[in-house]
Amino acid sequence: MSQPLSKEVARRRAFAIISHPDAGKTTLTEKLLLYGGAIHQAGSVKARRAARHATSDWMELEKKRGISVTSSVLQFNYRDMEINLLDTPGHKDFSEDTYRTLAAADSAVMLIDCAKGVEPQTRKLFEVCRLRGIPIFTFINKMDRHGQDPLDLLAELEEVLGIRSCPINWPVGMGKDFRGVYDRLTQTMALFGADDSHGEAAIEAHKLSVDDPELAKMLGARAHEELMEGIELLDVAGDEFDLERIRAGELTPVFFGSALTNFGVQLFLDHFVDMAPNPAGRVSNHGEIEPDSETFSGFVFKIQANMNPAHRDRIAFMRICSGKFERGMSVHHSRLGRQINLADAHQFMAQERKHITEAYAGDIVRLYDTGLFRIGDCLVNNGPNDLTYKELRTFSPEHFAKVQVKKVLRRKQLDKGLLHLSQEGAIQVFRPYFAGMVEPIIGAVGVLQFDVLKYRLAAEYKVDVELHTMPFSCARWIQGEDFDPAAFTRRESTTCVYDQYDRPVLLLRNEWALQWIKQDNENLEFLAYAP
Ligand code: G4P
Repeated sequence: MSQPLSKEVARRRAFAIISHPDAGKTTLTEKLLLYGGAIHQAGSVKARRAARHATSDWMELEKKRGISVTSSVLQFNYRDMEINLLDTPGHKDFSEDTYRTLAAADSAVMLIDCAKGVEPQTRKLFEVCRLRGIPIFTFINKMDRHGQDPLDLLAELEEVLGIRSCPINWPVGMGKDFRGVYDRLTQTMALFGADDSHGEAAIEAHKLSVDDPELAKMLGARAHEELMEGIELLDVAGDEFDLERIRAGELTPVFFGSALTNFGVQLFLDHFVDMAPNPAGRVSNHGEIEPDSETFSGFVFKIQANMNPAHRDRIAFMRICSGKFERGMSVHHSRLGRQINLADAHQFMAQERKHITEAYAGDIVRLYDTGLFRIGDCLVNNGPNDLTYKELRTFSPEHFAKVQVKKVLRRKQLDKGLLHLSQEGAIQVFRPYFAGMVEPIIGAVGVLQFDVLKYRLAAEYKVDVELHTMPFSCARWIQGEDFDPAAFTRRESTTCVYDQYDRPVLLLRNEWALQWIKQDNENLEFLAYAP
C-alpha cells in the first residue's frame, strides 16, 4: 500500500445531491461552491439560470425548453478535501443519466423541501442509493419558510423511505422566526443575524454554548424553552449518532437549514466532509480493488454527445476507482482490448474547465472522446487487462413508444441512430416478441428523452420518426425457467419484448398488473433492473 496514494484517497469525497425539482438543489450547489471558495458571490437563481442558458446549453432543445438535459460534475476544495459534486438533471423529467450518476458517487445528499416532505423523484433516487448501500445525508431545506413540524418530517423519512434518522442539528424557529440551528454534536447554538447580501455572500454564525446564559437572552424566553424541550425530546426519542450505521446507509444524519439565506449550510458542509466516506474498494470481475491500489482503474458512467452540433465529438465522464491518473498515460481499454492514450482530460472547477495532470480514486475526469467509449467501459493500467466493474445497472424505463420511420428507406440509419443513442445510454431499445411487429420499441426513464431522441435522430442521422407512445409504465426482466412469452403477450396489460442482449422483458401497464402477474407466476422472478 503506497502512503501518498492512501493519503490522496482519504482526502476525496464524491457525492451527488438527490431531490425533487424545486427543492433547492441548484441553490444549495451554489452555496456549497461559495463556502468552498470556488465562487465568491452567489447570484440570484434567476440570473444564474439566464447565464447558464447563454453559456452552457449545447442543444437547441435545451434552449427551447429552458432546461438542462445533461448532468455535470463540479470539483471544489473544502478545508483539505477534494470534493467532487455530481449534479443530476434538475428538470422535471429525469433520465438514466440520473441513476448512473449515483453509481459514480460514494454518498448522496437528499435534499427535502420542509413544506413538501418526501416527494416522488426523491423517493426513486433514494431507492437507487439504497440498492447501492451508500450513505445518505438529509438536508431539510427552506426553513426560512413555514413548513411541516421537524418531528413530523423525521417520522416521514421512516414511514415513506423506511430509514431511521439522527438529527445532527435542530432548528430554532421556522419561517421568518428561523433564528439558527443547534448543533447536537458540539452542543452549540449557531445564531444568524440579518444579512444584507440576501444570501449572496457567506455568513458567519454567532456561536454560543447551550449552557451560556446569553443564549436565553438572545433567543428570548419562549424560543429558548422550545429549544431546550426539543433537545430533551430528541435525546430520548431519536436514534443515537452512530457513524458506522451512517456509513452503512442504515441511518441518515439530518440537517436543517436554508440554502437561500445560507443558514446552516456551512455547518452541514463541515459535518458532511467529516462523516462522508472517502472512496472504498469496488467489486470487479477480479474481486475487490482497493482505491489506493497500484492498479489504475476507472469506468465511464456518462457520455455527453455533440456539445457542438457541427462536430461529432463527445465527452466521456470517468469515475476513477483505484490508483493514480496521470495526464498522457497509456491505459488498457478492456472492451476494445487495446491500449489507448489519455492525452486530454479535464475537470470543472466551479464553472471553469481546467486541464488536469493527476487525479486519484474518487475523482471524476472528463475525457475527450472520438467514439472510443461506451457507458460502462473500463480503463486499466498496471492491472488485469480485462478488468470490469459491474456498477452500472440498467433500470426499468417508465415510458415506452414504438418508433415509426417516416421514409422506409431510412430504416438503416434509424437502426444506426438507435444503436448509438442506446450505447450513450439515452434510451433503451427493445425488440417486440411478435414477429409481425417490425417497429422497434424504445424505453426511457424520463419522457423528455423522447423529444431528445426525435431531435437527435433528425439532426444527426437525418431520420424523421413518429413515436407512438405505448400504455406501459414499467419493465421487468424475467428470470426463471418455464417462461412462455406468448402467454404474457396475449394479455391486455402486458407485452413481452427482448432487450438488446436478447433477454426477455415484460412491459406492464402499472404496478397493479405486476402484483397479479407475480401471484400467478411464483416460479418466475421479475427484476426492476437488468440482471
Ligand atoms: P432545484 O435546482 O432543486 O430545481 O431548485 P432551485 O435551487 O432552482 O430552487 C427552486 C426555488 O426554490 C427557487 O425559487 C429558489 O430561490 C427557491 N429556494 C431554494 N432554496 C431555498 C430556501 O432555502 N428558502 C427559500 N425560501 N427558497 C429557496 P424560484 O422562485 O423558483 O426562483 P427565483 O425566483 O428565486 O430565481
